[in-house]
Amino acid sequence: MQVRSAVIPAAGMGTRFLPATKAVPKELFPIGDLPAIQIVIDEALGAGIDHIVVVSSRSKPAIDAYFAPEPELIEALEAKGKTDTADRLRSIGRDWRVSVVYQDNPKGLGHAVGCAREAVGNEPFAVLLPDELMSGSSLLAQMNEVCVSTEGSVVAVVEIPREKVSAYGVIDPAGELSADGVIAVKDLVEKPPIDEAPSNYILTGRYVLTADAWDHIEALQPGRGGELQLTDALRAQAAHAPFHAVVANESRLDTGTPLGFLTASIELGLQNPELAAPLRAFLADLSL
Ligand code: G1P
Repeated sequence: MQVRSAVIPAAGMGTRFLPATKAVPKELFPIGDLPAIQIVIDEALGAGIDHIVVVSSRSKPAIDAYFAPEPELIEALEAKGKTDTADRLRSIGRDWRVSVVYQDNPKGLGHAVGCAREAVGNEPFAVLLPDELMSGSSLLAQMNEVCVSTEGSVVAVVEIPREKVSAYGVIDPAGELSADGVIAVKDLVEKPPIDEAPSNYILTGRYVLTADAWDHIEALQPGRGGELQLTDALRAQAAHAPFHAVVANESRLDTGTPLGFLTASIELGLQNPELAAPLRAFLADLSL
């Protein structure tokens, strides 16, 4: 069954981006003319998802404002002939639906995702961490197919140098990588010390989970850093059911730090037909 809902955790305070995040949630920082969260939403829509569940915080009302319908703005844009922008705004609620739910206490990623349970319901769902931007929807679409064919949860992974694995969730693979980049998983560990890491394959912010994940999320106990870790819920799932990882070969951009955000903006600007030529000229001038 096609996954219909995507959960996007966006309740964090964005401390790395203070003072900017004092007033503007980092998920709404613009990359070109799009807020970062819209790029992640477009990835989900491109994989056939039509319900976006944003886990926000009541201290970030700008997130609600971004999704609120604004018929007067749409009319004004149309009157000025800006039909493409008008249509993009109109598509919210017509082509796809958004639910905003709230995480009142920051207790960890597992807790944040758990806040979306009622909005998603008892069916498979995707989780997209908005600090990571993918170059398209094909990874998520493939993960959905693997979820359907194996009847189990699926995570996206990338292989990184051993010395960096401790900052991430790490999978313990069971078997060989298939030609299309799929590997069975027998266990997962959140941020292991280097010498205890079961592989160099780290979780990279995309998940397609079967509905039984909800009970494992609800049963979570504090894990690494005292937080309720999504990885621990997946570990419980992998112990009982088929579980797979898909190796991401799309290019990924990490917008979690100011430098990452800046370089991602440049990379995506270079892919934007309207911005590419002048941006390239500007960069060429700089490096003279
Ligand atoms: C979270 C997850 C971790 C994953 C990472 C990917 O960690 O807990 O398993 O590898 O995202 O970015 P965080 O970066 O929130 O500490």
